[in-house]
Formats: sequence, structure tokens, C-alpha cells
Amino acid sequence: MNKVYSIASQKGGVGKSSTVLNLGTALSLMGKKVLCVDLDPQGSLTICAGVKKPDKLTHSTYTLLNAVLDKETLPESGEYIVPCEKIDVIPCNIRLAAFETNRGHEMGVQKTLQKALAPLREQYEIILIDTGPSLGVLTANAITASDSVIIPVTPQLLSAVGLKLLINTVETVKEHFNPNVVIEGILMTMCDTRTNLYKKITKIMEQMTVSLSFRIFNTIIPHSTNVGEANLRCQSVLTFDGQCKPSQAYMEFAKELMSYA
Ligand SMILES: Nc1ncnc2c1ncn2[C@@H]1O[C@H](COP(=O)(O)OP(=O)(O)O)[C@@H](O)[C@H]1O
Ligand SMILES: [Mg+2]
Repeated sequence: MNKVYSIASQKGGVGKSSTVLNLGTALSLMGKKVLCVDLDPQGSLTICAGVKKPDKLTHSTYTLLNAVLDKETLPESGEYIVPCEKIDVIPCNIRLAAFETNRGHEMGVQKTLQKALAPLREQYEIILIDTGPSLGVLTANAITASDSVIIPVTPQLLSAVGLKLLINTVETVKEHFNPNVVIEGILMTMCDTRTNLYKKITKIMEQMTVSLSFRIFNTIIPHSTNVGEANLRCQSVLTFDGQCKPSQAYMEFAKELMSYA
């Protein structure tokens, strides 16, 4: 079995990049071979995974996408994949923003990442794609390249409100570019389960998902400063403190996700 997941939400700060890094690490601790792809020009995943000097990268998702779109011969995968602790990463930097502006209107551009990842699907059991806070051409590429989409939601109203737009985007990609893609589920992140806000938002999400064909995952990622501490150290939270609550939650989530695969 090998599978490609996008972690997507047009809302920033909901835990997409943290989830890619920590879920990726948890899956690798389960013995899976994991590749994480940074498709957000802000490059948070690249930085948090510990890639040094992103601005100086010779190869990145930007150069890879351009090479595929220009039908050039791709470099050896070892040249653009960076080993980081327990996972491998295709990093990026701010230049990736230019892909959207300069090449976003070209014919078939939505399938560029899918083509780039096709040979790598043989080498990795799990590929996780980190996306930016927009529903533009880069996120369309991520969803087109994926089997499944995971949507992180925080217990804040604005985080839940944009959901319909994202669901529509997945439907559009399904119709035009990738008939097999599904929404795997909603992952509640940064939760303090004792608060009223958490209870209210969970209720809203449950009501929303009743009419839809995807789940809210059983695993809930708690709010914990350890995640930010680990990010600061360019580590996954599991490396920073394997026993803390968010580390255990990401391990639980990795197991839950694999139980649906
Ligand atoms: N479970 C958590 N508890 C507390 N803070 C978190 C948690 N997950 C992420 N964060 C912090 O929230 C901020 C946004 O997270 P990030 O993963 O970058 O979100 P996104 O990629 O959606 O913009 C970061 O500063 C990160 O350290
Ligand atoms: Mg991010």
C-alpha cells in the first residue's frame, strides 16, 4: 500500500505544517517510509524540519514543478530530496510563489505535482503534502496529486467557516483532474477540550459532517506549547519530547489514519 495525503485548509495557523511534520514523524516511527512535500511558499515545513538555508536551495518544489512543466529531464531524486531526522522532505522557499503567478495559467498546470510525484510513489509508503493558506493553483496541484485530503480545524469559528469553500475546491478537482480523490476527514488541532468554545465548535462540525461523506477523526490534537517549542528547535514534537500529550496524540492519529487505509 502507498498513499498520498494533502493537509489542506485555506485558513493559516490551523496546524497544517505542524501536522505534516509530526504525523510524518509518527508514521515513520511506525516503520513507514515517509516523504513530506512543502508546497507552501512560506516554507514553514522546510524550516521546522531543519533544512538549512532554504533560500540557497539548488533544488526545491519550485524547480521540480518548473522542470516537469517544461518537460525537462528531472534530476536524480537524491538531489532534491533532503533527509531530515525520521522523514525525507522536498523543501521549498519563497520562490515557489512565482510558480503561481508566472505559470498558473498554463494548460494542464494542475497536474504538474502529480507527474512529479509519480515515480516517487514507488519509493515511499506515505507522501504528505503541506499546502499554503490559499485555494490557488498550488493547492489544486496538491489535491490533484493526492488520494486523500486531511483538513485541520481549530476550535475557532473562523476556522470552521471556510470549510465549504475547501470542500467545493476538492469537488472541482475531483471533477476535472483526479476522480479518485476523497476527503479523509477533519482533524481537530490545538484543542483545549475543557473550554466551551471547543464544545460549541465540535458540535457545529458534527452537524456539518452528518450530511457529508467524511469523518471527524477520533484523535484530537491538544493545544500544547511543546509543539511551538519543538518548531523553534527545528524538531518534530515527538523528537522534542516523545512522552508529551501532543506527541502521544500524533502517534494515536497515525495509527487511526492507517486503520482507514
Ligand atoms: N497542537 C498545538 N498546540 C499549540 N500550538 C500549536 C499546535 N500546533 C501548531 N501550533 C502552533 O501554531 C502555529 C501555527 O501552526 P502551523 O502548523 O504553522 O499552521 P499552518 O501551517 O496551518 O499555518 C505555529 O506557531 C505552531 O507552533
Ligand atoms: Mg503552514
